[in-house]
Order: sequence, then structure tokens, then C-alpha cells
Amino acid sequence: MRILVLGSGAREHAIILALRSEDAGHELFAAPGNAGMAHDATVVAVDPLDPAAVTAFVNQERIDLVVVGPEAPLVAGIADALRERGIPVFGPGRAAAQLEGSKAFAKRIMEAAGVPTARAVHARTTAEVEAAFDELGAPHVVKADGLAAGKGVIVTSDRAAALAHAETYLALGPVLVEEYLDGPEVSLFFLSDGDTVRPLAPAQDYKRLRDGDEGPNTGGMGAYSPLPWLTERFGGEQALTEEVTHTIAEPVIRQLDAEGTPFIGLLYAGLVLTDDGVKVVEFNARFGDPETQVVLPRLVDPLSQLLLSAASGHLEDHPVPAFAEAVAVTVVVASEGYPAAPVTGRMIEGLDAAAAVPGVHLAHAATAVAPDGGLVSSGGRVLSIVALGSSFAEATARAYEAVGHIRLEGAQHRSDIAARVRET
Ligand code: AMP
Ligand code: GLY
Repeated sequence: MRILVLGSGAREHAIILALRSEDAGHELFAAPGNAGMAHDATVVAVDPLDPAAVTAFVNQERIDLVVVGPEAPLVAGIADALRERGIPVFGPGRAAAQLEGSKAFAKRIMEAAGVPTARAVHARTTAEVEAAFDELGAPHVVKADGLAAGKGVIVTSDRAAALAHAETYLALGPVLVEEYLDGPEVSLFFLSDGDTVRPLAPAQDYKRLRDGDEGPNTGGMGAYSPLPWLTERFGGEQALTEEVTHTIAEPVIRQLDAEGTPFIGLLYAGLVLTDDGVKVVEFNARFGDPETQVVLPRLVDPLSQLLLSAASGHLEDHPVPAFAEAVAVTVVVASEGYPAAPVTGRMIEGLDAAAAVPGVHLAHAATAVAPDGGLVSSGGRVLSIVALGSSFAEATARAYEAVGHIRLEGAQHRSDIAARVRET
């Protein structure tokens, strides 16, 4: 197949590596891609936010399937533009992508579908925010309504800090004040063709910048899959996955379909396993980053067939995808100053030595080729170091050995990724 992947992060690189690993001779294109992807796909300077440019490229290159990586092109309507022209595209249209693009929309859909989530209040003024804090109690959770790349959310017991965060975003519109959900977080992905739903394997993401879940929220600093501790808590991954499929994913997909806005693509459920059961903390309308880097390397079924089936309404022909027993860990290497103000343009060295560690591969996020032919950083999250192993002890040792080879001035990474499962 001739497949175009839109996006330029480590998630998109992971998608390309999974397609490449099928050995099916796919012709792969990435727009706009990055320096690392250039080894695995043809990187093209097409703006994913420009429907006319993307459709022109698709027609010119006779692309069979477009896979949309990030949320911004979805919310901008790229999938609608392609679908209108009969081009198979994996990614929801603008209306269904509001599940991620608007927290108010997501809450309404969850309520209509009877899906458990945190209680929430829409506040328009400082006084309403304060009243919501009183009603919902601490810790306080405040969210900006629109897309904010993981930065619009604050979770804190410091009421003054929560209020200051709310006031920053109140200038742009109403904010959401939420009940705090207490418990471990799980990211679970579902493929959907608008009707049928198929779960992938669960992963855990590390959203805070620093070890011990300290520091600001980020786009994600590391992840691992599978989640062995689900056995004690839920009787295993399969039990959790089935429960969430039936109580969360299917009702949401049905609700969106009933409203005339079918969701074709990847439904990302961010879940908290509370003492009162599984609750949704957020939905995203695309693969998670960095979770994709640990989920896709474990996928046994050919990814291209699953994505094409979802894009063309035939997912029901596929059984639930199978995953390898191997475990996967990813550690994100980020720039100095990330997430607030990443320093870019710095030389990156040691990639070959990192990739030479057994079981390790690199997914590039923000890398660019310098005039001298070397690599430089070009954004906040620079690389995802991915390690596979037969145990978490092995995979984490491999991942951190590889991280140790990367030389990037001021780089940041967490040293506690998968720490809670390292003995397994
Ligand atoms: P969101 O942008 O909604 O995905 O939130 C980002 C992160 O903030 C989540 O992954 C959680 O770690 C945390 N978070 C958001 N909402 C809540 C909540 N109601 N209770 C606890 N943690 C939350
Ligand atoms: N890992 C969080 C996200 O992709 O939104």
C-alpha cells in the first residue's frame, strides 16, 4: 500500500516503524515528518493543516490510505476534506474530533452515553471557580476548554495556584473545574470504524516532567506496556479491556454515530482506576504519545490492515488484535526548558550507540538535520528511546543504557519510568 502519515512526532515515527516492520513492501510517506523518519519513509514538505495541499499530494502520489497522527489537523477538518474526495483516511472528522478539541463537548457526550467520568463545573468567573473549589474539594483540577498540548490542566492542592491557573484561561473563555480522581492512570486505545470497536493493549504514561510525578504536566515523558499490576486489581488486562470496551468505548462510539458524527479513527481513553470503578479523565481523538511507542511494537496483527479496515468501515472483519508477551518501555529525552520554553537547535550525538543496545530502537520526535549534516533538536520532546525485553528489568535496563549514550546539552528525562514494575 501507499500510505501517507501526517505529523512529525515520535508517535508518527512509531506508526511508520510499525508499518515498515510488516515487510509488506509498503511505500511510506511522512508529512512533514522529521529527520529520523527520513530513514524509514519519504519525508515530504506538505502542511497537514492544509487540506488542499494534502489532497493534491494524495492524488498526485496515488495514496491508498492517510493516517492522521496529531489532533490539530483533525480538529481543523483534514479528515473531512479527504473523506469527501473518497480517500480512505484513519482519523475522525472535525465534529467527532471535538471529543478531544473541547472538554465541554466530551463531557456532554459522556453524559449522554452514560459513561463514568469526574464531576465537573463550567466556570465563567473567578467567583464561580471558587464556588466549584468549595463544592468539589481538594486537590483542585482546572482545565482550559480547548486544545492546549497537555498544558491547559493543573492538578494541585494549592488553591491559590489553581485559582491563578483558572484566571489565566478565563481570559480565553469558560474553564472546567473537576472533581479529583484518585487512582492509577491507564491509557487504552480503541480502533473504530464509526461502528465497530477494537481495543489495543493498555499502557501507562508519565505526564509530569520530573521523577516521582513532580513538576508541570507535559505531553508525556515515558510509558510502558503491558500493565502487570492489573492482574491483582482487575483480574488482568483482558478483564479491564473488556469492561472499558463495553462501558466506555462502545457507548461513546454509538452516541457519536447517533448524532451523525461517526468517529472513524483512534479513540484514546485516559482512565483512572478509582475505588468507585473506572472513570474517564480525558478522551483524545488520536494515538497517544508516548504510549504508541510501547503499544505498537507489541502488536502482532499488521497495523496497515487494521487502519485500512477502520478507515473503510470493515473493522468487524477483524478479531480483537493480538499482542506479544514482550514488554516495552519508552523514555522520552526532552530539551532544556521543556515544557515551558524548550531550547532548540542543539546538537544531538550518540544515537547510533543508543540504537546499538540490544532490543532498543529510537523514535524521533523533534530532530532536524543541521547544515553540517549532523542532527539538532527542533522542539520540546526530542527522542523516544524504546526498549523491548522479556521482562521489565531487562527492558528498563536497556532503555536507560541507551539514554546514557545520548548527548544533548541540558537534556531532561525521567529516571523512574516503569519503576513500579521493574521487578516483574
Ligand atoms: P487532560 O488534559 O484532561 O488529559 O489532563 C492531563 C492530566 O492531568 C491527566 O492525564 C491526569 O494525570 C491529570 N488529571 C486531569 N484531570 C484529572 C482529574 N479529574 N483527577 C485527577 N487527575 C486529573
Ligand atoms: N500521552 C498523552 C497524550 O498523548 O495525550
